[in-house]
Amino acid sequence: MILGIETSCDETAAALITHEGAIRANVVSSQADLHARYGGVVPEVASRRHLELVVPVVREALAEADASLRDVELVGVTAGPGLIGALLVGVAAAKAIAWSRRLPLASVDHLQGHVASLYLEPDPLEPPFLCLLASGGHTLLLDVQERGERPRMLGTTLDDAAGEAFDKGARLLGLGYPGGAAIDRLAREGDPAAYTFPVARVPGLDFSFSGLKTALLYVVRELPPEELGRRRSDLAASYQRAIVRALAERTHEAAATAGAERIAVVGGVAANSELRASLPEAVLAPLPLCTDNAAMIASAARFTEAISYPRYLALDAYASSA
Ligand code: KG4
Ligand code: ZN
Repeated sequence: MILGIETSCDETAAALITHEGAIRANVVSSQADLHARYGGVVPEVASRRHLELVVPVVREALAEADASLRDVELVGVTAGPGLIGALLVGVAAAKAIAWSRRLPLASVDHLQGHVASLYLEPDPLEPPFLCLLASGGHTLLLDVQERGERPRMLGTTLDDAAGEAFDKGARLLGLGYPGGAAIDRLAREGDPAAYTFPVARVPGLDFSFSGLKTALLYVVRELPPEELGRRRSDLAASYQRAIVRALAERTHEAAATAGAERIAVVGGVAANSELRASLPEAVLAPLPLCTDNAAMIASAARFTEAISYPRYLALDAYASSA
């Protein structure tokens, strides 16, 4: 079995999967409540909490799979991109576990991990496909040709990530952190045509979401406080509509450019119900595998060249992709 460990942001996660990609355990401990009062992830607070949680979470995954470390043949860990202190905790834990049993270790790129969420049982997807990766930190259009091969990037965001746009919008609407799921819920009661929020059309296949958040800020600022409460669901629905439209349009354009016959969507924003409904032909990562988890990291480890014992003791984490 493969043990996956993920600590790049505010989820401490461990998973066990088979080499074929069947999930035996997938444990995610979210720190969202811890960071909510600050309105975003506080890196040093996240690192410390990862340190407290990483061993219990690995133990819980082993218990859930009814397995022990003796059943683990490969350890896969997120080495980047992400919060450097948070990543270091996972990398150090993975090194210690692998070293103690002289196992190989695979250094996994978090974004490749999101894509590899599509390769798990029961419905593993085979490339080629055009992949929209939309999370709190990234918005990427990827031309995926081979498992494990770094895909060609066709488009990205010039400013905020799609998830970041959701989170900042939620904050303006007083919905707390993280806000994507909260906007998604509230939008169901609102009228998406109540407000028109413009999304900048930038050249090529890139995105720009920062103007959208400013547009929402202006509307919210003009509303009397008692009116804001009444219009909140309309605002959430209209704001979500603007983000989802931009994502769906560009994804279709990218698929046409790449000549891709299939579209797949991964990352936290792939959990959004309106986005899922807007791309009915797309392969969507299963809901529990959209937001950060370690099953996707273990999945990517299968297609990453492992580092042999004990060379990986020199492995470093990286905050951003080269
Ligand atoms: O992939 P992920 O868990 O972490 C990163 O790698 O960033 O994505 C988290 C992002 C957050 O911005 C969160 O607000 C957003 O995904 N998100 C959603 C939904 N669920 C999570 N955005 C829109 N609708 C959702 N249902
Ligand atoms: Zn992620």
